[in-house]
Amino acid sequence: MDVIPTVADLRQRRLELTGPVALVPTMGALHEGHLALIRRAREIANHVIVSIFVNPTQFGPGEDLDRYPRTLDADLASCQELEVDLVFAPAIEQMYPADQVDTAIDVPALTTILEGAQRPGHFAGVCRVCAKLFNMTQPDVACFGQKDYQQLAVIDAMVRDLAMPVTIESVATVREPDGLALSSRNRYLGDEQRSHALGLIKALRQAKMLVEDEGETDPIAVEQAMTETMTAHRLDVDYAAVRHPQTLAELDIIEPSLTGGVVALVAARLGGVRLIDNMQLALD
Ligand code: PAJ
Repeated sequence: MDVIPTVADLRQRRLELTGPVALVPTMGALHEGHLALIRRAREIANHVIVSIFVNPTQFGPGEDLDRYPRTLDADLASCQELEVDLVFAPAIEQMYPADQVDTAIDVPALTTILEGAQRPGHFAGVCRVCAKLFNMTQPDVACFGQKDYQQLAVIDAMVRDLAMPVTIESVATVREPDGLALSSRNRYLGDEQRSHALGLIKALRQAKMLVEDEGETDPIAVEQAMTETMTAHRLDVDYAAVRHPQTLAELDIIEPSLTGGVVALVAARLGGVRLIDNMQLALD
C-alpha cells in the first residue's frame, strides 16, 4: 500500500490501476464505520483508494476543525490491513492551492434544510471537496455511509445532475452493540454523556415503532415523540424530522407506499458535541 501526498503522484498512480476503482473519501480517525465502507469497496472493485483529508471548507466558524481527531498512523495501519491500494493523504496546499479561485457547487433544495440549515455552507464544502476528489481520483465507484444520510442524498444529486461518471454506493450505518452510531466525534463524549447519547437511537427506534407497528401517519406526532425522547436524555435537539427518503421534503402525511418508505433524521447537541443519526422506516 502506498501513501500518496500530491495530486500529481495520485494522477500518475491512478493510470497504473486497471479495472474498476473504488474511492472511499474520509476525514480520517477511521473507525469500524469507515472500515465497512472500505470492505464494501474491496468487494465491488479491483482497486481501492482511500482519501484522508480533514476538509476545512465544510467546517463553519466555531466548529471543531482545530480539534478534529487526527490519527494518521493508526488510519494507515487499518488501511494496510484491509489491503487498500492507495491512500491519498494530501496537505492542505494540494487541495486548496493559495493561487486558486474558489468554485461553488450547490444543491440548494437539499442543502438549505436540516443539516444545511444548522451548518450554513457545510454541504457546499462537502460538494466541492468530493467533486475535486472525484476529478483527481477518477473512480468508477465512490462509497458513502448512510450514517450521513443527507450527505449521501446531496452527493447522489450532484453526481446525477452534473453527469459525473461515478456510481455512488451507499453502505449501512455501523453501530455499537447498544445502537449508538459510530462516529469520529464519539470520542469527545465522557461516560455520562455517552449514555445520554443513546437518546438519538432511542428516538429513532420509537419512530420506527410508531410508524411500522402502530401505523402512525402524522409526521408531527412522530417528530414530537422523538423530540421528547431526546430531551429526556438531556440532549439539546437541533431537529427531529420524518422526511421523503430521496428529496428530504416535509411530508403532510406518512404514506410509505407512495414514497418507498420514509426516513427519520435526528441531530442534537450534548455539551459541545454535535451528534446526528437517522433510520429508514417502512422500507418496501
Ligand atoms: P467522515 O466523517 O470521515 O466519513 C467518511 C465516510 O464514512 C462518510 O461516507 C460517512 O457517512 C461514513 N461513516 C461515518 N460513520 C459511519 C458509520 N457509523 N457507519 C457507516 N458509515 C459511516 O463524511 C465525511 O467524512 C466527509 O464529509 C467527506 C465525505 C470525507 C468529505 O470531506
